[in-house]
Amino acid sequence: MGPRVDFPYFEHLHYYDQVRDARLNISYSNVREFTFGEFRRELPKDLDLNWANTNGPERLRKMIAGRHGTRVDRVLMTTGATEGNFVVNASMVRPGDRVLVDSPIYSPLRDVPTGLGAQVIRIPRACDDGWRLDVNRWRAEAKAGARLLVFANLGNPTSAAVSRTEIGEVAEIAEESEAYVLVDETFRELAFERRPPSVAQFGPRMIALSTITKVCGLGTLRAGWIVAEPNLLERFGRIKDYTSGGNSALGQLVASWALERWEFFLRRARRILTRNRKVVREALAEMPALQTEVPPFGTVLFPHSLVDVGTLADALLKRHKTVIAEGRFFGMDDHFRLGLGGDMDELRRGLGNLRKALQSAA
Ligand SMILES: Cc1ncc(COP(=O)(O)O)c(C=O)c1O
Repeated sequence: MGPRVDFPYFEHLHYYDQVRDARLNISYSNVREFTFGEFRRELPKDLDLNWANTNGPERLRKMIAGRHGTRVDRVLMTTGATEGNFVVNASMVRPGDRVLVDSPIYSPLRDVPTGLGAQVIRIPRACDDGWRLDVNRWRAEAKAGARLLVFANLGNPTSAAVSRTEIGEVAEIAEESEAYVLVDETFRELAFERRPPSVAQFGPRMIALSTITKVCGLGTLRAGWIVAEPNLLERFGRIKDYTSGGNSALGQLVASWALERWEFFLRRARRILTRNRKVVREALAEMPALQTEVPPFGTVLFPHSLVDVGTLADALLKRHKTVIAEGRFFGMDDHFRLGLGGDMDELRRGLGNLRKALQSAA
């Protein structure tokens, strides 16, 4: 028998199924939902729902290429960033390969290579170091051999940014060790004018993933993409043939409406995040058991808790019907994730409950 493919349980995803009845969820990473009606557009009556190009409409891919400062032939549409992450890994990673993965991180970026039998090496970041990427540590681990280096920019759950200089250094490490670099850029543009560049501009070993899910609050359209060299996209596409074949024509049409109005969505996101950031800053001042700075951009923060996080999350859910995302989902038990992109009133009430739960646990 060959090696067994054993994908870790995606606990964070199913946790949300279990807590659907909770009144308040202050853990999500998306900017608030945008409804179909808010587009104020009609679907074309002659929209062909029977056929779609396997790589999506060229017009949509051109707009995406523009967002990454690259060419249209370097964009492959996927069913969300979720499919993008899967097909890149399935195409590149073989059992036993060393894959270096940033930590803490959104779990599929760590667990898909694990499921494919890779030897996943977590490269930790520390909150008391401002969640800085430890480039020397990446270099040292890559010297011992690596197939793929994986991080997210901005980070989820930290919103930490990897700078242009650091991206350049990681690109050099990849050259030296003949590795590839996969960067999830789902949150990159949510640093607004301070957004880091896309890794798509850093040479042929760099692969970017992204999606409209978080910036726009349009997750169920399942419109994501990979940006990489055409020869790599060709390989990824061969896997995508089996994971979705093509993309939803309806989802991609609405995604193109969103990309046409991208600046509007960024302004909307900034407005929501700025207000909520203030609410969180004020609330945290009254919660000494939580140690964190509110990051200057991004949709999430990842406070360190002096109170046991499992106990806290249980108490919040049972007594206050309020949901946070436990740090263990991201590989760091004594932290938890809070979202900044939701409804302000819900956030305020959820934070009030968090304060009460911390007080009773103290
Ligand atoms: C870093 C990151 N990448 C990808 C996704 C999922 O993207 P999509 O909804 O496009 O599949 C998420 C969702 O939480 C995420 O946080």
